[in-house]
Amino acid sequence: MCGIVGIIGNEPVAPLLVDALKRLEYRGYDSAGVATLEEGQIARRRAEGKLKNLASRLNEAPLYGMIGIGHTRWATHGKPTEQNAHPHATDKVAVVHNGIIENFKALRDELRADGAVFQSETDSEVVAHLVTRELKRVNDPVVAVRNILPKLHGAFALGFLFAGENDLLIGARKGAPLAVGYGDDGMYLGSDAFALAPFTDRVAYLNEGDWTVIRRNGAEFYDAGNVLVERRIITTQVGSGLVDKGNHRHFMAKEIHEQPEVIGRTIAHYIDMATGDVRLPTDIPFNFKDIRRICLSACGTASLAGLTARYWFERLAKLPVEVDVASEFRYRELPLDKDTLTLFVSQSGETADTLASLRYAKEHGATTLSVVNVATSTMARESDVVMPTLAGPEIGVASTKAFTCQLTVLAALAIFAGVQRGTLSQERARELAQQLIASPGQVADALLLESKIEQVAHKLAKARDVLYLGRGASFPLALEGALKLKELSYIHAEGYAAGELKHGPIALVDEQMPVIVIAPRDHWFEKTVSNMQEVAARGGQIIVIGPKGTAVNAALTPIASIDMPDVVTEFAAIAYSVPVQLLAYYTASIMGKDVDQPRNLAKSVTVE
Ligand code: F6R
Repeated sequence: MCGIVGIIGNEPVAPLLVDALKRLEYRGYDSAGVATLEEGQIARRRAEGKLKNLASRLNEAPLYGMIGIGHTRWATHGKPTEQNAHPHATDKVAVVHNGIIENFKALRDELRADGAVFQSETDSEVVAHLVTRELKRVNDPVVAVRNILPKLHGAFALGFLFAGENDLLIGARKGAPLAVGYGDDGMYLGSDAFALAPFTDRVAYLNEGDWTVIRRNGAEFYDAGNVLVERRIITTQVGSGLVDKGNHRHFMAKEIHEQPEVIGRTIAHYIDMATGDVRLPTDIPFNFKDIRRICLSACGTASLAGLTARYWFERLAKLPVEVDVASEFRYRELPLDKDTLTLFVSQSGETADTLASLRYAKEHGATTLSVVNVATSTMARESDVVMPTLAGPEIGVASTKAFTCQLTVLAALAIFAGVQRGTLSQERARELAQQLIASPGQVADALLLESKIEQVAHKLAKARDVLYLGRGASFPLALEGALKLKELSYIHAEGYAAGELKHGPIALVDEQMPVIVIAPRDHWFEKTVSNMQEVAARGGQIIVIGPKGTAVNAALTPIASIDMPDVVTEFAAIAYSVPVQLLAYYTASIMGKDVDQPRNLAKSVTVE
């Protein structure tokens, strides 16, 4: 993870580096730093914590150099302290790094034996010392970098700045993205085109293994074999404006409220509103009739969208689905064949484990289909079939609107599969499509419950542990509720299949334990209500999310009821996501937590 940037400009670059880093904070926000050349010497400012700390450090002690590099960090090796913040530097070179140098221990021992003194606990610092040692030998920065790159094992995007070199930046890429920007006022290096968008829309991407030498008048590219190569400059469509919060206090609140609109937009992309038939916007190179099973792989919330969709594919298309978190899938050595469809779900399209799973599936001859939100992402580029979610940019670290749009696309795909496999009649498929079309309205109705949910959140904010229960397609939502509460409020929470509780976890239930029961009126409703009775009998503090009257009809007195629209729909998980998201949002807000950037997390997880 981590975001890197470099600028050769005609004015002091430190404020510009900070602007670019703001756009890379989704890659990490543990610490940040910049280095520029001040009268030919490397000068650094670094700060622990969010980028605003670096900005205040620069206000107190400005830098004036017209060439520089910057970094925003998600810690892998070494705590997120100022000492471990990038750039790492010697008096000869400063380096910013995204990725992991896997052989750093061996390199560090070797460099220490040669007299290098390390100042941080990071893997990245070895790169600065390797270049410094090589510079003593070859006295040429370009040759020095070229010579040390093959020594680095692992994944990296690197940016280098050299003492005494006012017109030289070097970048290198292996396993992590890097782009060169061509501006009117300078040349740029960055982790992505979005970071460079305030300066230029003309970028050239480095290919895997490439390294680049950037000067004011342009850039040269070399491939992994050090052969001079051409890399095409393209004009990107990335807007230079930063997405703002509108009238909301947080991006997360804004994104929760955008759901009726973005789910509606996604539905319109997949359902022909005139006929009510699901239609896929791209041709698919297979027929679901020939598919024997789906293997679905994703991480975190995206994997829970997949787990929900499993119920839909199995019920509607009679198609077995295996769901794995991608960090397991990639190493499971799962046998794949041409009758297996591999399905990947990702907001960013860059998540390292999901991408590695996709590549595994391709190498093993399976057809790959990805549901992604970022249309220009690596996963979108590498998949056989791409089904976009039209959620728009999601800035809050906790996924909300991307999740419900993933559910929407997967629901449409399950209907489509059912029709192709003959398990759904045309009429039933249209009925189901109508249920999906109704979901933005149900989401909007659920949003009207916001102030009630805020009151309930006051109760959760006092809890030490919380249980979420659900059955069937609501079971993954119970897991999602617990995940959201944990990541935003740092309250311990667990999600369980409601029927599983009595096999152990019910021992946790007492008068202190809020138990949130997700109970839409679906195939599993009566069973869920019975499980609720079991919790009540043990003094559990029940919070029901279900149709009005659920608790009263069951003669229960919950501590709170969140009365959802009473509709029968196969796709209740979409509308029921809203109270789950709002509960976590308000609980964390009441507790004064940073809901948009929770501790230890990053929006895009590009390391395994
Ligand atoms: C949790 C959350 C994460 C992501 C996960 C996958 O709220 O957002 O669990 O869902 O890191 O990210 P993507 O979807 O970008 O692959």
